[in-house]
Amino acid sequence: MAEKTEIDDVSGTQTTGHEWDGVKELDTPLPRWWLYIFYASILAAIVYWVLMPAWPLVNGYTKGVLGWSDRANVASDLSALRSARAADFARLERASYAEIAADADLREFARAAGESVFGDYCRTCHGAGGAGAPGYPVLADDVWIWGGTLADIERTIAYGIRSGHPSAHLSQMPAFGRDALLAPQQIGDVTEYVISISAARTRLAPNMGAARRGATTYQEQCALCHGPTGAGDRAQGAPSLDDDLWLYGGSRAEIRRQIELGRGGVMPAWESRFDPATRRALAVYVYEMGGGEPDPPPAPAEAPAATPMAAPQ
Ligand code: HEC
Ligand code: HEC
Repeated sequence: MAEKTEIDDVSGTQTTGHEWDGVKELDTPLPRWWLYIFYASILAAIVYWVLMPAWPLVNGYTKGVLGWSDRANVASDLSALRSARAADFARLERASYAEIAADADLREFARAAGESVFGDYCRTCHGAGGAGAPGYPVLADDVWIWGGTLADIERTIAYGIRSGHPSAHLSQMPAFGRDALLAPQQIGDVTEYVISISAARTRLAPNMGAARRGATTYQEQCALCHGPTGAGDRAQGAPSLDDDLWLYGGSRAEIRRQIELGRGGVMPAWESRFDPATRRALAVYVYEMGGGEPDPPPAPAEAPAATPMAAPQ
């Protein structure tokens, strides 16, 4: 078939010579810029195949002359991170809270490491940000059942509370109602008394006659742990009763229920789960949620000698 190319009158472009029923096809050339990009792409692909891993083979793939491997890079990044962190963890394990607080990098490292572990292991019970839930104390405030210095918090985390660990916090409130240690009437009276010494008295308006009767029972049965004025005793994990913050709820019925049942919360021990540096990071994170307490001043026996020029012995 004879194909005749010609210049199209209207566009001035050459035709391909194909013609269907008098309709001719223009042979419009590709724009130059497009062609150059096209050739450059082919060239780039070939260069890439040579340099980088590219083609799948039966047993493996073409490795490329650069020997690049994302898997190897991730592994080396991870081990670099691990060794960079090892130094931080080792520093953390040795530092006192004052030293951690004075070292912005170390403090941020501890806080971040603690936050991530807290999210995985503690949030289920203590709530996001340590907001607490009934039976699970708020950690983000400055009210502590067992103590709020860094050492106190670390101890609680390591051994737990009524956890079965030999060093755990142990003490337990008696179940005055269930075990019939007090008559229901006495429990009602001591409930009114507890309300009358707490900051909930404005909210709950205690019956003062009953509270006066309950005062004696309180001093005989409760003061040993909760203190004569209801200030609480951290050594025994007895919460303060003079504020308006309640682990088991602050209604009259809920307060009475705890006196009847003497519930004691269980906090797991984490000693075998986390190394000391991770426990310290957790403690720093909890401490910094808002309620950490300064270390007590050193006992007099540990205080440095008053005069640096003390005579040698
Ligand atoms: C299974 C639930 C549970 C988990 C998980 C848990 N806790 Fe607790 N935690 C408790 C309970 C319950 C108490 C209060 C015990 C009591 O009644 O004295 C408590 C108490 C505490 C206290 C003492 C608060 C105070 O006022 O003295 C600290 C600190 C604490 N938890 C930190 C943590 C950290 C950090 C983690 C994560 C490693 C964690 N807890 C995981 C249940 C839990
Ligand atoms: C052996 C020590 C002990 C004695 C005695 C004791 N308590 Fe307690 N009490 C505790 C402990 C420990 C808790 C905290 C339980 C927990 O953390 O799960 C507690 C908790 C409470 C609470 C709940 C506080 C809150 O924040 O929700 C109330 C109310 C209370 N006691 C009242 C009394 C009264 C009233 C008596 C006397 C009739 C009494 N307790 C005797 C140890 C004691």
